[in-house]
Amino acid sequence: MGKLFIQSYGCAMNFSDSEIVASILKKEGYSLTNDYQESDIILLNTCSIREKAEETIRKRLKNFNNLKRNKPTLIIGVLGCMAERLKEKLLNEEKIVDIVAGPDSYRDLPNLIKKVKKFEEKSVNTILSLEETYENIEPVRINTNGITAFISIMRGCDNMCSFCVVPFTRGRERSRNPFSIIKEAKNLFNSGYKEITLLGQNVDSYKWSSKTNNKKKLEKNNDINDIIHFSDLLEMTAKISPDLRVRFSTSHPKDITVDVLNVIKDYENVCNYIHLPAQSGNSRILKKMNRTYDREWYLNKVKDIKKIVGQDCGISSDFITGFCSETENEHNDTLSLMDNVIYDYSYMFYYSERPGTLAQRKYSDDIPLLIKKRRLDEIIKKQNIHSLERNQLRINNDYKVLIEGYSKKSKNFLKGRTSENKMVIFPKKDRLLGDYVDVKIKDCNSATLFGELC
Ligand code: SAH
Ligand code: SF4
Ligand code: F3S
Repeated sequence: MGKLFIQSYGCAMNFSDSEIVASILKKEGYSLTNDYQESDIILLNTCSIREKAEETIRKRLKNFNNLKRNKPTLIIGVLGCMAERLKEKLLNEEKIVDIVAGPDSYRDLPNLIKKVKKFEEKSVNTILSLEETYENIEPVRINTNGITAFISIMRGCDNMCSFCVVPFTRGRERSRNPFSIIKEAKNLFNSGYKEITLLGQNVDSYKWSSKTNNKKKLEKNNDINDIIHFSDLLEMTAKISPDLRVRFSTSHPKDITVDVLNVIKDYENVCNYIHLPAQSGNSRILKKMNRTYDREWYLNKVKDIKKIVGQDCGISSDFITGFCSETENEHNDTLSLMDNVIYDYSYMFYYSERPGTLAQRKYSDDIPLLIKKRRLDEIIKKQNIHSLERNQLRINNDYKVLIEGYSKKSKNFLKGRTSENKMVIFPKKDRLLGDYVDVKIKDCNSATLFGELC
């Protein structure tokens, strides 16, 4: 049928979705290529989270102009969140695009492609679904290291944080059949994988019943034996094998439960690492962001984690600076929250207004860009200091590391992560990729630990 080039942008969900798309199109006879110059179909799986993310994709599309001129049969498709947000408008704005397909329409891709090929018509499907979880599609692993893999466990998001475009681009929340998740995890383990990450925009609100996939009906279902919560799923996955590490992302602070923390504590192979985005350290801003927790509530959650999982538990966050009407004092509250928690790592951004979101409709994007950026610099500087501080605590301790690959600089060194999600570099000796090894930490910088085999 031809060669398919697929490139993903944005979050892990998109990378995972691309593996579903690859699987659907492989069944149709397409083969994957890493070289877009030789491809017959180019698919970009896109992100809308910030204005910059969309600009990057528009620039990338321009790269294909020459290629398309020389090869008019080349099909270019835009998938993912930008496709969903802009729908057919994207066809007018970017003339080079033939297909626009939203995140719930990937089963329709073979038809969309046929339409372009046969009738030379552009094709669009951006219908969002209340049920689609792609549960019976075995993803084709792209650019895999053969050791770590993502498994999508739910789709969509019902949270409506006021700054966020995801609920509009990904639709309503729905959870995937746990038995299909366990089957996928077992297959991965049996083919040599050692670590899986359970993925969702909000994994802790995972909820599944054999009777219904409808969230409203699910909430009314009182038959507790029939309901599987995230903590149950995590435990089921942990039991596959002690040699299969389990991670998960992302946890909304309002949803992560003591049950989940107990599963992390009870199972050595469930990693001691939680990505717990705070977004801001100020309660008025958190309310305006519609995060549904305040500063104290968040700090109590962190206390629970440290108490149940341990002081060593890796914790990371996301932060947004310069959200609508944020004052200097409120920004300082974010800095002081960071001082209070001392995160291992953070993903930090300045606020980017997104069309259609509650914040765009209700509030004014009134913090000047220079101030947003200066505040961002301040939190990045603080995070770097904290990352180094947290890493220094590991020196002279031993950690179990799963080897994921070679160090960038030398084939004589290996890299892998600790349960707490710390990257460690150490001399290779006779160890192999996919092995678990004990490493004594000797040195570090803010991003990496350096060690010796024990
Ligand atoms: N579901 C995840 C977040 C996914 S988006 C969660 O709730 O934690 C990843 C991060 O992008 C968010 O946590 C937020 O920090 C950032 N982000 C989202 N919308 C943004 C916007 N409009 N401007 C800047 N950053 C944004
Ligand atoms: Fe966006 Fe909030 Fe949903 Fe995360 S939880 S995807 S930030 S709406
Ligand atoms: Fe981006 Fe969509 Fe993920 S907007 S962050 S690719 S859910």
